[in-house]
Amino acid sequence: MKLFLKVAVMLVIPVVLGVSNVASAQSTSNLPSKVEAWLASPHADSSSEAFRHWDEDGEIPTACAACHSSTGFMDYIGADGSAAGQVDMAAAPRTVVECAACHSATASTMDSARFPSGMVIANLGSSATCSTCHQGRASSNSVNAKTAGLEEDTPNTELGFINVHYRVAAATLFGTEAKGGYEYAGNVYDGKFVHVPGLDSCTTCHNPHSLKVAPENCVSCHKVDILAAIRTSTIDFDGNGNTTEGVAAEINTLHAALEKAIQAYANEVVDKPIIYAPGVYPYFFNDDNANGVGEPDETIYPNSYKSWTPRLLKAAYNYQFVAGDPGAYAHNPRYTIQILIDSIADLATKVALDMPQTVRP
Ligand code: HEC
Ligand code: HEC
Ligand code: HEC
Ligand code: HEC
Ligand code: HEC
Repeated sequence: MKLFLKVAVMLVIPVVLGVSNVASAQSTSNLPSKVEAWLASPHADSSSEAFRHWDEDGEIPTACAACHSSTGFMDYIGADGSAAGQVDMAAAPRTVVECAACHSATASTMDSARFPSGMVIANLGSSATCSTCHQGRASSNSVNAKTAGLEEDTPNTELGFINVHYRVAAATLFGTEAKGGYEYAGNVYDGKFVHVPGLDSCTTCHNPHSLKVAPENCVSCHKVDILAAIRTSTIDFDGNGNTTEGVAAEINTLHAALEKAIQAYANEVVDKPIIYAPGVYPYFFNDDNANGVGEPDETIYPNSYKSWTPRLLKAAYNYQFVAGDPGAYAHNPRYTIQILIDSIADLATKVALDMPQTVRP
C-alpha cells in the first residue's frame, strides 16, 4: 500500500509542481528523498486521529476542514477558485496534508496568515502555510469575550473550558503579535521570537517534508547533545536554583507549578477540586475525592469541570496553551515563561502558594 502510494505520488507530483516529467523534477530537486521524507512524516500519517476523527461522520465540517484535510485547506486559501479566508464546503475525510496543499500556485505565493485573535501576520514566505494550520483556534480575545463583565472569583455555569487546540507553534512563535496565549491586562509581552537570521521561521528550523529539526544546524552555536538542553540565559526563571538546565526545563517547572496553583485555587477559592488529564477531552475534571490524582472514573466527559471562575479559566487556558506546544521552548521561550508566571501570579492574589521566587523575563 505504501509503495503504491509512493509510486502514485511520484507520478502526480511533477504535474502539481508544474514540472513536465519525473526525471527532470528528480534531477533538479532531489524529488525521491522529499517524497520519502514526507511519507514518513506525521503529515502523511493517514492512520492518525487528526485525519480519522471524522470517519464515522462521513465528512469534515467546515469549521475543521481547513487544517484537517488538503481539500479543506485548498478551499480555505482559495486555491480551488473559491473565496479565500473561509471554508465553503465540508470536506471528504481521509486526505492528509498532501503535496498539493503546500504546492498549489496559491499556496506558493501565500505570504500571510490570519490568527484567531484577528491579527494578520505578513512576510511569512514559505511558512505562511504552516502558520495557517498551526495557530490554534482561540486567543486572548476569545477568553476576554467569554469572561467580560463577570465577577473574577465567582463560579459561573455559563463558562466552559476554552481549549486553544493542539500544536499551536505559530501562536507561540509570534507571541503578543498573535495573542494566542491569555495576556493579562497591564502586563507587557514579547512579540516574535527573533532568534538568528536563517533560523527564524518554520521552514528554516523544520524540514518542510520530514518536519524534523536537524540538531546539526544548532550545535555550532549551542554546544549541547539534545535540543531541549539549549539555554542562553543566566536567569533562574523558575527559581529552582539551577541555571544550567535547558530553558525547556525552566518552562516545565513553571508549567507544573501552574498546575499546582490551579488546584490550590480550585480547592480554596472555588471549593470544588479540579484535576487535569492530558489527552482526555475536555482535559479538566472534578477531582471528586480531592486526592490530586485523576482516577479513571473521574476523568470522563460527564464529570467535566463546570465550576469555572473567570480567573481559573484564564489560568487553565494558558496551562493548555503551553501543553499544546511541545516546542514552546524553541518557538518563544520568553513569551511562554511570561504567560506561565503571570497566570501563577494572578491565582496567587487569591490563594497562598508555597513556591519559589520566579523571575519574569
Ligand atoms: C487552525 C487549524 C485547525 C482547525 C480549524 C482545527 N484543527 Fe484540529 N488540529 C489542528 C492541528 C495542527 C492539530 C495537531 C495534530 C498533532 O500534531 O497532534 C490538530 C489536532 C486535532 C485532533 C487530534 C488531537 C489529538 O489529541 O491527537 C482532533 C481530534 C482535532 N484536531 C479535532 C478538530 C475538530 C473537531 C475541529 C473543528 C471543530 C478542528 N480540529 C479544527 C489544527 C486545527
Ligand atoms: C507542509 C507543506 C509541504 C508539503 C506537504 C510538501 N511540501 Fe514540498 N516544499 C515545501 C516547502 C516550504 C518547500 C521549500 C520551498 C521554499 O523554500 O521556497 C518545499 C520544496 C519542495 C521541492 C523543491 C522545489 C521547490 O519548490 O523549492 C520539491 C520538489 C517538493 N517540495 C516536493 C514535494 C512533494 C513531492 C511533496 C509530497 C510528497 C511535498 N513537497 C509536500 C512544503 C511542503
Ligand atoms: C493543512 C494544514 C497543515 C499545514 C499546511 C501544515 N501542517 Fe503540520 N500538521 C498538521 C496536522 C493536522 C498535523 C497532525 C498530523 C498527525 O497527527 O499525523 C501536523 C503535524 C505536524 C508536525 C508533527 C507534530 C506531532 O504531533 O508530532 C510538525 C512538526 C508540523 N506539522 C510542522 C509543520 C510545518 C513546519 C509546516 C509548514 C511547512 C506545516 N506543519 C504545515 C496540519 C498542517
Ligand atoms: C528556532 C527553531 C524553530 C522554529 C523557528 C520553529 N520551530 Fe517548531 N520546533 C522546534 C523544536 C526544537 C521543536 C521541538 C521538537 C523537536 O525536537 O523536533 C519544535 C517543535 C514543533 C512542533 C511539535 C512537534 C512534536 O513533536 O510534537 C510543531 C508542530 C512545530 N514545531 C511547528 C512549527 C511551526 C509551524 C513553526 C513556524 C510557525 C515552527 N515550528 C518554528 C524548532 C523550531
Ligand atoms: C548562529 C548561532 C545560532 C544557531 C546556529 C542556533 N542558535 Fe539558537 N540561539 C542563538 C542565540 C544568539 C540565542 C539567543 C537569542 C535570544 O535570546 O533572543 C539563541 C537562543 C535559542 C533558544 C532559547 C534559549 C534560551 O535560554 O532562551 C533556543 C531554544 C534555541 N536558540 C534553539 C535553537 C535551535 C533548535 C537551533 C537549530 C535549529 C538553533 N537554536 C541554532 C544562536 C543560534
